[in-house]
Amino acid sequence: MNFLPLIERKRDGSPLTAAQIQDAIRAYTAGQIPDYQMSAFLMAVFFRGMSREETAALTLAMRDSGEVLKFPDDPRPIVDKHSTGGVGDKVSLPLAPLLACLGFRVPMISGRGLGITGGTLDKLESIPGLTTQLDRARLVAQVQRLGVAMGGQTATMIPADKKIYALRDVTGTVPSIPLITASILSKKLAESLHALIMDVKFGTAAFMQTREAARELARSIVTLAHDCGVNTRALLTDMNTPLGRAAGNWLEVKESVACLEGKGPEDLRQLVVECAAHLAAQTMSGFDLAITRRAAVLGLESGDALRKWEELIVAQGADLAAYRAKLKLDHAAPVVLELVSDREGFVSKVDSRIVGEIVRDLGGGRMMKDSAINPDVGIDSLAKPGESMQRKSLLARVHAATQAEAEAALLRLRTAFEFSEKAPQLPPLVHEVISA
Ligand code: URA
Repeated sequence: MNFLPLIERKRDGSPLTAAQIQDAIRAYTAGQIPDYQMSAFLMAVFFRGMSREETAALTLAMRDSGEVLKFPDDPRPIVDKHSTGGVGDKVSLPLAPLLACLGFRVPMISGRGLGITGGTLDKLESIPGLTTQLDRARLVAQVQRLGVAMGGQTATMIPADKKIYALRDVTGTVPSIPLITASILSKKLAESLHALIMDVKFGTAAFMQTREAARELARSIVTLAHDCGVNTRALLTDMNTPLGRAAGNWLEVKESVACLEGKGPEDLRQLVVECAAHLAAQTMSGFDLAITRRAAVLGLESGDALRKWEELIVAQGADLAAYRAKLKLDHAAPVVLELVSDREGFVSKVDSRIVGEIVRDLGGGRMMKDSAINPDVGIDSLAKPGESMQRKSLLARVHAATQAEAEAALLRLRTAFEFSEKAPQLPPLVHEVISA
């Protein structure tokens, strides 16, 4: 394929046809276009953007670059949730089994953490014995049987995204709305979804720093998903503060289990319920959010979602006895230190970026795609904005591999907190709902 005329058209601001985009993606995936030409094209897209039609063509071409999951006909809608990522964002763990209890099929394909952003696969793999490497046949069979599977992308799914994302990462072309939209949605469309809920985060630890940028991305994704036949809504949520009270892989599993037991932090529970309630309202005509919220709360409080979670992890190889024993431990990391308040007042801020960086540097996150992580380190018992503190009240605990690392983390963690004399005005967790 002669790719040069397409690069030039995009560079000059002329639109490309769907057929041209399909040919380019097919040729690049097959190794027939060199990386330097694709890099130039991506940079042209970064500056010139893409129309709705071009973005749709790119998304579908990327989806079709590999295998698309096929499920047998079944009245249960196929749904998923995608978050743009943040610190302490463990929503997928309680949400997936809850959705299965509400009558959905959930082929949840997730990613690994990178930098300060945690990844669902890393969290799941902190459970003894559990595997997230499910091949297509196993994933489909498990979804049909249990209603839910949680795995990583198979080697043959969306190869175009893998290649293009790796190139974007090293060419400064990640922050492009059409490229992000196509990257996220090509993966979701490969699950053959009927409906999708997006959690688009903004704030210090989010991919999108401002609410305006998050709204733009959310609108692009929701519109395009609808064009491709997937009923999609997006919640714009705050990521200036960590979600819940724990960040770090195993600590987040523990907090997710608390949520499934009808306990745990209120913001986590609220976001899990909102995601489930929106998906139910999107797919079941005649049910409004008040009804679907009640159904979601009941799914948690009844213990149904917890039972489904245990079925799910056992199906994926978890050693239930070892998992339950690990849950009973106060900490699985060798060293735990407490951070206590040195003043009285209200917590007015807990900077999620600082918390995320500390967890990453304790070994809970990775700097490079292939680095190993320590599943048991992190931070828990985090105080939340609005809470009243006395001198010596607990602000957080650090779980570390060594005493020296714990002490260094403790010093930095203090800088994440700000205090005020009066109770601060708290922002809502969900700022907006974007639908088509
Ligand atoms: N997440 C993705 O999967 N793709 C992007 O381009 C950005 C975030």
